[in-house]
Amino acid sequence: MLINNPKLLTSLAELGVERRPAAKLSELTSLGIGGTTDLLRINRHESLPDLLQLLDANHIPHKFLGGGSNLLVNDGELPWVILQLAPPEPGVVLEGNLAHVDAAADLGRTVTFCAKHDLGGMEGLIGVPGTVGGALRMNAGAYGMQIGSYVREVKLYRAGARKIEILSGDQISFEYRHTSFAPDDMMLAVTLELPSKSYQEIIQGIRICNEKRRASQPLGQKSAGCIFKNPPGASAGRMIDELGLKGFHVGDARVSDRHANFFVNAGKATAKDMLSLIAEVRGRVEKVYGVKLENEVVVWNA
Ligand code: EPU
Repeated sequence: MLINNPKLLTSLAELGVERRPAAKLSELTSLGIGGTTDLLRINRHESLPDLLQLLDANHIPHKFLGGGSNLLVNDGELPWVILQLAPPEPGVVLEGNLAHVDAAADLGRTVTFCAKHDLGGMEGLIGVPGTVGGALRMNAGAYGMQIGSYVREVKLYRAGARKIEILSGDQISFEYRHTSFAPDDMMLAVTLELPSKSYQEIIQGIRICNEKRRASQPLGQKSAGCIFKNPPGASAGRMIDELGLKGFHVGDARVSDRHANFFVNAGKATAKDMLSLIAEVRGRVEKVYGVKLENEVVVWNA
């Protein structure tokens, strides 16, 4: 969706919002898939309520983009604009065992920054691409840990209340790849309480997780991480592998040869290809195992 109302463009500029016209989502997502729309970069959290009011008044739908690493976006001209927080400087401020982190901060850099200051706990997240806000919204986890365990406080824009609020960790429920945030809440910042550990010990943990990840996941390829959630007590990757579906493809959307729950864009895959692949694999798993796999990847195809 392209904004071309001159009055609205002036109001956006007055709010300190930077507009990137016709941004390509294929360049903003790790899958390398997605059509075009205007991207609005937010430089000040405080401008959000006014910005959203302005968009509503002009009947412009929007979606919030984090790091784009767990996202499958439709092809073509998209019927909404994208809002994204500008990367912060600095992204993390430490205070004892507390790390105050901007939602737009890079997750991996945050983990290593904290490690350098002897704060650990998040070693498992080191290879997870994306922003801290994205990780928080879906309670990202790996190797026995999840980010939600360390959350003390979250600053967010609550779309329902149309204002910025601060929630304490115990007001939020963090479950396996799921949180109690509303779909249109926008993460702004988080305070994590991290255990003290020596840098050496943290780095050792990071190395082990990196090795495991390198050995089992297609890291150099365009993907959105795992496509499906693991059903209780089972592994989506193992089931898809057992069905002999590694390498199975629709166009350039392909089940990874390395990890069957990673679907990669092996060239010029479209959202249509990827959605067909997801539907086909889901159908085959359901037929044989009687389990309907749920998406882990977030799909924007409306
Ligand atoms: N397996 C196979 N074939 C495959 C893939 C896996 O047989 O193609 C088997 C493995 O040998 C293992 C079992 O399935 O016995 C589980 O595999 P793995 O250890 O790779 O873990 P996973 O359950 O597939 C989960 C998370 C990953 C996270 C890893 C490591 C989900 C959906 N996936 O994968 O998270 O990195 O554990 O902790 O929860 C993500 O969220 O995007 C993601 C990749």
